[in-house]
Amino acid sequence: MTSFDTIGNKDKSVAIIEESNSNEEKNFAREILKKHPNIKTVLKKTSERKGKYRNREYKFVAGIKNTEVIHREHGFLLKLNPRYTYFSPREATERQRIATKVNSDEDILIMFSGICPFGIAIEKKQPDVKRICCVEINPKAHEYAEENLKLNKTKKIKLYSGDVKEILPKIKNKFDRIIMPLPKKGYSYLDLALNKTKKKGMIYFYYWANESDLFSEAVKIVREEARKSNKKIKIIDKRKVLPYGPRIWKIRLDILVN
Ligand SMILES: C[S@@+](CC[C@H](N)C(=O)[O-])C[C@H]1O[C@@H](n2cnc3c(N)ncnc32)[C@H](O)[C@@H]1O
Repeated sequence: MTSFDTIGNKDKSVAIIEESNSNEEKNFAREILKKHPNIKTVLKKTSERKGKYRNREYKFVAGIKNTEVIHREHGFLLKLNPRYTYFSPREATERQRIATKVNSDEDILIMFSGICPFGIAIEKKQPDVKRICCVEINPKAHEYAEENLKLNKTKKIKLYSGDVKEILPKIKNKFDRIIMPLPKKGYSYLDLALNKTKKKGMIYFYYWANESDLFSEAVKIVREEARKSNKKIKIIDKRKVLPYGPRIWKIRLDILVN
């Protein structure tokens, strides 16, 4: 047992240890708490991410029970409780990769926005962005997103609470860039995204695949959805993003919509 994720800051963090580490978990947790005074709680993963909200179950192993933290990422703050909302500190670099693509005066949509890390990363990197619309179905994540906008004094982000299928038809304008960070189910919203993208706009589509063939399935799905929606597209980039499980990767396709 050597590695673990931490979510939080220099005063209060939560450590998250892996599911397989069951026997020595108490000792390992005590060691973590002793070595890292800012870590106040140790949780152990006890399930995969699951359900609509993409949360997972955790076993409380040691420390204090209150697991709400304020995570610091690339100069901005994210308040969350990992027990009730999706958040992965490992995705910080990916958020920066996307944020650096955004130009001034662009209209951005984040379809599955969680506690709003993508939205805030984009506004911090490109303060001249026109508007960032964020849609999230988990009410608890939406509440934290509202707090996070205040914590970071953002000006361009508009949050919507609910299902993108219901919210998006109510938003009239189209977008220069649409981010779809829902690898397991995002494909079922591609038609919506294709119809909400401006001419020459981009969709960042996340999916997952075995390392033996990372992109074929995602490419096939995207082409098929574009055909059904009668849209001309060009896949201009294919990226490995992060390991998702043994030999499984989270991937991203960058889709230019004509
Ligand atoms: C993989 S998480 C990503 C969250 C956030 N973008 C991030 O990077 O931390 C996917 C999020 O999509 C939300 N979600 C799932 N289905 C949704 C839907 N139909 N409409 C809106 N949000 C949805 C989940 O509640 C979850 O917070």
